[in-house]
Amino acid sequence: MPAPYNDLRSFVKALARRREILKIDVELSPVFEIAAALRHLDRRNDKVVLFNKVKGHTVPVVGNLFENYRSLAEAFGVKSAREVSDTYLRRSNQRIPPRVYASGPVKGVMLKANLDILKTMPVLTHHEKDAGPYFSSAITLARDPDTGIRGMGIHRIQVKGKDKIGIFLGTPPLSRFLALADARGQPLEIAIVIGVDPLLFLASITFAPEGIDKFDLAGGLRGKPVELVKGETVNVEVPRHAEFVLEGRIHPGRRETEGPFGESGGAYLTVQNPVATINCIYHRVHPVYHALMPFNKENGIITNVVWEANQFGKIKEALPQVTKVHLMGSTGEIAAVQIEKKQDDDGRKVIQAMFQLVPRAKGIVVVDTDVDVMDPTDVEWAAFARFQVDRGLLTVSGMPGSVLDPSAEGGLTSRWGVDATKPLKDLGRYERISPPAWAMEKVKALLDNA
Ligand SMILES: Cc1cc2nc3c(=O)[nH]c(=O)nc-3n(C[C@H](O)[C@H](O)[C@H](O)COP(=O)(O)O)c2cc1C
Repeated sequence: MPAPYNDLRSFVKALARRREILKIDVELSPVFEIAAALRHLDRRNDKVVLFNKVKGHTVPVVGNLFENYRSLAEAFGVKSAREVSDTYLRRSNQRIPPRVYASGPVKGVMLKANLDILKTMPVLTHHEKDAGPYFSSAITLARDPDTGIRGMGIHRIQVKGKDKIGIFLGTPPLSRFLALADARGQPLEIAIVIGVDPLLFLASITFAPEGIDKFDLAGGLRGKPVELVKGETVNVEVPRHAEFVLEGRIHPGRRETEGPFGESGGAYLTVQNPVATINCIYHRVHPVYHALMPFNKENGIITNVVWEANQFGKIKEALPQVTKVHLMGSTGEIAAVQIEKKQDDDGRKVIQAMFQLVPRAKGIVVVDTDVDVMDPTDVEWAAFARFQVDRGLLTVSGMPGSVLDPSAEGGLTSRWGVDATKPLKDLGRYERISPPAWAMEKVKALLDNA
């Protein structure tokens, strides 16, 4: 079944019909106030938030879009949150190429002179010590200077002036495109896109082996082609139903301080990064601005759902006893691994293998099949009730660390593994308490449909 949404606004409308949206009608400023509201609400509930009155702008802001798996289920057009990962996995093997059209709604309002990014859209300033307003949900598109193949990813972007930005291209494929353009002393043409349909958004952050066009992948996830239009001033196509597009060129070889910016890992990060000049901005008539608050729950959810689909097959092949893996935390820093234990040292063996297999997780917690890896409360409980430091803790040092981890020294980190599985003997002590299964099923049916 093709996924139902072509753009952000129709997705938001559908979520509103399902009462998944909290509408805020109090006027709030894009400088700190909307970010504060997104953080406050992130800790209190898991709804999408729509800010209808944004100080200094007529553009509404939508945020916390993927705070729960129900949003993702809606995006895929499946009934339950439990179907999301399998659906992603299945559809991510399909490729449907995009279609290019002569024009489209994204070009509803065209600005080519006297540009002023912050007057045109409510770019948020998020954390107290941030260097200024940042795009944190923007998809940057560019072409491989050698092959012309398209590449994209979410990259943080600091607004440095009316038409000047700083951009962090630290991951492939765009980091490689930049290196090639720099080596030739040529500018890299980019299009920055804000506000797209939910599955294109997910495709943009999927790890795609070099040479795979993420628009083909997005088409596969959607079950229908992504619709594109040609860029106005750059040789890059952009989604036809996007809310905003900025086009520009990255200056070859130039680096300037970018940041501090409060990152997904919960700490500030300052980097020497390239700068670009924006030549052209266009947007839909009555656009909606998509905000992503770094370090909120959705950061972890979107990272996890694409990571799990990409990596689970590889893990299962190496470790058949693994039944489920879930990355916890806003950058996937802790992997909760569920195993079907057959031998007493299975937990330790899995930890040792995962140290190599899952470079992104700093911590690994291995649990039994009666512990739900998607539920942090369950994992915490297992780490209390089935783990002893002196027999279940493994550590390793000198591993590659994350730039988002302030405690990593010189790019290196130590990693830890907690074997929170029960031993194979003396099982009575480890039995989980629960009301009878029949009572749980009965109330679930009654209350969930209420
Ligand atoms: C919320 C979010 C923010 C990101 N910000 C950046 C960034 O500022 N710079 C960067 O190089 N990559 C960033 N990424 C990673 C890339 O967008 C993209 O996920 C990556 O190219 C996919 O490959 P990977 O999984 O190997 O990183 C971000 C990803 C997410 C989910």
